[in-house]
Amino acid sequence: NQVDRLRRLAHEEDLVDRHLAQKAVVRGLAHEIKNPLGGLRGAAQLLERKLSESEREYTRIIIREADRLQSLVDRLAEPTHPYLPVQVNIHQVLEHVRSLILAEVGESFVLRRDYDPSIPEFAGDPDQLVQAVLNLVRNAVQAPSRLIVLRSRIERQFTIGQRRHKLVLRTEVEDDGPGVPEALRDTLFYPMVTGHAAGTGLGLSIAQDIARRHGGLIEYTSRPARTIFTLFLPLRHEYDPTG
Ligand SMILES: Nc1ncnc2c1ncn2[C@@H]1O[C@H](COP(=O)(O)OP(=O)(O)O)[C@@H](O)[C@H]1O
Ligand SMILES: [Mg+2]
Repeated sequence: NQVDRLRRLAHEEDLVDRHLAQKAVVRGLAHEIKNPLGGLRGAAQLLERKLSESEREYTRIIIREADRLQSLVDRLAEPTHPYLPVQVNIHQVLEHVRSLILAEVGESFVLRRDYDPSIPEFAGDPDQLVQAVLNLVRNAVQAPSRLIVLRSRIERQFTIGQRRHKLVLRTEVEDDGPGVPEALRDTLFYPMVTGHAAGTGLGLSIAQDIARRHGGLIEYTSRPARTIFTLFLPLRHEYDPTG
């Protein structure tokens, strides 16, 4: 109804305002991540020489992921950098995330897919989208949870922020973990807000930034045994990195 709609709009505007303030912080942190990342990659390359061919699979993952992170960090540090729009297939993005997660944590939980195969391709940055969804799935793994569902759906005539879109892609990461801690609920997307001792609190902030660049938004609902983070993306044919 109308009241709910207005409340949602006000809430989203609030998210956008906060988000702009946080961008500067994220940019600073992106810069800090670059140096250790270079060291990590170099060390993996040295290590690779000492390993047998079958063991090199692991160092290759480190190097490939370091490279992906490097290009991501470059773009976070330089948000006006123009990049080439590419046709993105969301299910390729989700399958990439799935294989990364399985390589990272093994099969200690169930990762189920619930895809709508009719979803068309759209213009975007697949590396960034992998990163955004990966951050959501990692959080679900760490919740901790035993069942994670990756879901894709289409919404018609859907509003993101103030803009109404004909077609919106809805990508959900659902988990059966304990839920988002009460104390974090209002600040969850802020950088450096974390519920884990070893957390950086950057995952959701970066994911939200990536969503924004695609003209989209991440929202969530959470209660014990059912937490859903939803990435809304307009299905656009032209990609405008300024949002
Ligand atoms: N699926 C989830 N279930 C429960 N809590 C979550 C979930 N996703 C995020 N959170 C909470 O949000 C916090 C912030 O997440 P994030 O920005 O990715 O930083 P980090 O993972 O480094 O802590 C997490 O520490 C956790 O407390
Ligand atoms: Mg995280």
